[in-house]
Amino acid sequence: MDNKISKIAVFTSGGDAPGMNAALRAVVRAAIYYKKEVYGIMRGYEGMIDGDIVKLGARSVGNILQRGGTILKTARSEAFRTKDGREKAFQNLKKTGIDGLVAIGGDGSFTGLHKFNEEYKIPAICIPGTIDNDLACTDFTIGFDTATNTAVEAIDKIRDTALSHNRLFFIEVMGRNAGHIAINCGISGGAVATIIPEESMTIEELFDQLDKGEKTSSLVVVAEGSKLGGALELARKFSERNNYFDIKVTILGHLQRGGAPTYFDRVLASKMGVAAVEGLLKDQNDVMVGIRDNQIVFNPYHAIAAQHHKIDSELIRIAKILSI
Ligand code: F6P
Repeated sequence: MDNKISKIAVFTSGGDAPGMNAALRAVVRAAIYYKKEVYGIMRGYEGMIDGDIVKLGARSVGNILQRGGTILKTARSEAFRTKDGREKAFQNLKKTGIDGLVAIGGDGSFTGLHKFNEEYKIPAICIPGTIDNDLACTDFTIGFDTATNTAVEAIDKIRDTALSHNRLFFIEVMGRNAGHIAINCGISGGAVATIIPEESMTIEELFDQLDKGEKTSSLVVVAEGSKLGGALELARKFSERNNYFDIKVTILGHLQRGGAPTYFDRVLASKMGVAAVEGLLKDQNDVMVGIRDNQIVFNPYHAIAAQHHKIDSELIRIAKILSI
């Protein structure tokens, strides 16, 4: 397994996700295992443009496996969308002699990496790190399991209040335009309804379902990308016609992004980090590491950009059956 790559740079980009540090650790240690030099780029593409690049050793990534966030910090870079920004970034990589790149981030990060790869030809691999689980060609992205567990824990706590006061809670969870977090929270949290962007339920259907229920206490999980409106809007609209529920809203927000990664995300991140380095050394380029049926796979940018990660229709069916 060896090609000419000798200096690999790794960075985290886009929204932080629990498990990014574990992925970083795996990339750094695998690179060193294969006797390569390894560098960390601070603040994603912003640091690449500013030349904020540091040499990393096996010990620089000690004691980070269990920590949320990312020690390399992260950013959503507007400057990298410009030709001028990417040229500056390239000059900085050239100065350091970087000849392989590993990005840990979501779809926007991979799009940036692909564009950069087309222009400057530095071999590059993306590791999917986002709580949204919205990337195609992988069953899981790093951070999704932890974020969903965090949200379910919060929902269980809200249920205590809902039960004690006979309240109806509309609980909004993250996921950008995807409902993966929401549908799994809806099932695990025992929601009476789950509103996800992928499904075409009307407001009337939702409200009829709430009217039909036992009218004691209830939880509705709403994905932030819901086409029917967010939790606040739905709660406001339902309160105009409902005269039995005391209605409350909780938007879980960024608490879903933080915290120690679950064992699942640590193992996933470790597998993907090692795979990214081994992939680079075996001439994989412009691809994303994924996991399908517990096997590591590599898929090209175009295959991933062309599709959405579909919600398992079985989950939607189960959520419906169980919320009668
Ligand atoms: O992509 C991760 C995510 O947390 C989404 O679920 C959410 O829509 C978005 O990032 C929030 O972004 P920011 O932290 O930049 O407000």
